[in-house]
Amino acid sequence: MARLSSMNFVLIFLLSFMIMSSELAQSQGLDYGTALTKSLLYFEAQRSGKLPPNQRVQWRGDSALKDGGEAGIDLAGGYYDAGDNVKFGFPMAFTISMLSWSVVEFKDKLQSKNELPNALAAIRWGTDYLIKAHPLPDVLYGEVGDGDSDHSCWQRPEDMTTPRTVYKIDDQHLGADLAGETAAAFAAASVAFAPTDSNYSAQLLTHAEQLYGFARSHPGQYQNSIPVAGKFYSSFGYQLLWAAAWLHRATGNKVYLDYLGNSGGSGDVRTQFSWDDKYVGAQVLVAKLVLEGQVKDAGPWAQYKSNAVEFMCRCIQQATTNFKKTPGGLLWFQPWNNLHYTSNAAFVAAVYATYLISHDYVEVPCYRGTQAPDELLVFAQSQVDYILGANPNSMSYMVGYGSKYPTQVHHRGASIVSIENDSMPVSCSQGYDEWYKKNASDPNVLDGAVVGGPNAQDNYLDIRSNFEMAEPATINTAPLVGLLANFGN
Ligand SMILES: *[C@@H]1O[C@H](CO)[C@@H](O)[C@H](O)[C@H]1NC(C)=O
Ligand SMILES: *[C@@H]1O[C@H](CO)[C@@H](O)[C@H](O)[C@H]1NC(C)=O
Ligand SMILES: *[C@@H]1O[C@H](CO)[C@@H](O)[C@H](O)[C@H]1NC(C)=O
Repeated sequence: MARLSSMNFVLIFLLSFMIMSSELAQSQGLDYGTALTKSLLYFEAQRSGKLPPNQRVQWRGDSALKDGGEAGIDLAGGYYDAGDNVKFGFPMAFTISMLSWSVVEFKDKLQSKNELPNALAAIRWGTDYLIKAHPLPDVLYGEVGDGDSDHSCWQRPEDMTTPRTVYKIDDQHLGADLAGETAAAFAAASVAFAPTDSNYSAQLLTHAEQLYGFARSHPGQYQNSIPVAGKFYSSFGYQLLWAAAWLHRATGNKVYLDYLGNSGGSGDVRTQFSWDDKYVGAQVLVAKLVLEGQVKDAGPWAQYKSNAVEFMCRCIQQATTNFKKTPGGLLWFQPWNNLHYTSNAAFVAAVYATYLISHDYVEVPCYRGTQAPDELLVFAQSQVDYILGANPNSMSYMVGYGSKYPTQVHHRGASIVSIENDSMPVSCSQGYDEWYKKNASDPNVLDGAVVGGPNAQDNYLDIRSNFEMAEPATINTAPLVGLLANFGN
């Protein structure tokens, strides 16, 4: 009996140990640290210009070194937008805003994961370019290259033979949306750099203030000034609340608060947070001021906060009208590049939860019942987990992460042999014939790229021509930098 019971004890012990470790394996099955490292490598793969000696993504080479030359200025650098080789200023600025917000909120976690220097380098690669693109207070270059000619070719950035036309806004060519987003990017980056490089931070702030002033005095949409950008990234309007919120965070200056309080509305409840619609970002930043007691929980300030809260309730399915979800649990907005919208929603939910928790707020008042701030974190993590492989296809939508991920991304550089291995230039049509149409895995793994993602039924077609699902973009990965820093140890 004694032996038996001790055997039983050992068995039970072993069994429970096995169950515990399998639970542990499940909960730790996703390696956020590795995904974070890859997310930052992705920005190196998207680099335009002269690559630095510490470039880690070795399959890329120098490219587009003469950008800006036709206008007599140096516009080398910055980021290629998605699977093409155009430098679109509007989404590039939003990418920098979200990378900066990631650093501003999750700096300590990035630091403890040894990724803070890489995250700051990712921001700086963008802001160094934006500084060049803003040579005078009222001049901002908003695009290099154009979508039509670029998209008619399938070439490595290193081989580009397409026109590198430059487009700008200025006194005669309005663009408050572009100037405002770039001001937000500069201001957010200024906050991100403040602790480690006050000189650079001050330089960025000067650009932010100038562009905000330019946007205020030149209302209008940038696609009227840069129609070639409007064909791909047409903005629905312009509002400077997001820029003003970041400038207030960077400076504490009351003029920005006055604008936020008096501009006549916080934008109501939004259906998305994206490169085109930044109201939620402003609402969350202002809600933080309310939680901190910097502004009253009344009037316009209360409206910002309640609109932010309602967006959160829609995310966690506790509002009257919720955001759609796929059967597998992914927040689903639209067929083309859905994961951009999902990752942004997850990001603001995590940030808002962090604000609530750090100010000892315990309630998120939703129509279907009051929720705990933790529910926002659970939601945000569920979306990150889905992206990394906790989904019906058991597939990661971050390239290079896990054992199964997109192998045919809609991306010129990744799909053509590296220039390091074959320096023979690939011509405009040759790229289409020999590489784009090739039914084979990409020769270069675009680590950290997040593709558009599955459809509303969780299905994904891993084929290069499927740009709605298979094209990655810098706007997709930027918010994940903060999310991946936040989750895991
Ligand atoms: C070049 O090709 C070799 C062999 O296929 C491969 O191991 C290596 O990673 C490639 N280098 C680059 C920079 O793509
Ligand atoms: C500070 O920034 C300026 C550019 O605004 C630069 O010329 C200068 O060298 C920087 N100084 C230091 C100490 O980094
Ligand atoms: C591509 O190749 C795979 C096998 O490697 C095959 O299953 C699939 O049908 C092919 N797709 C096309 C469009 O030819």
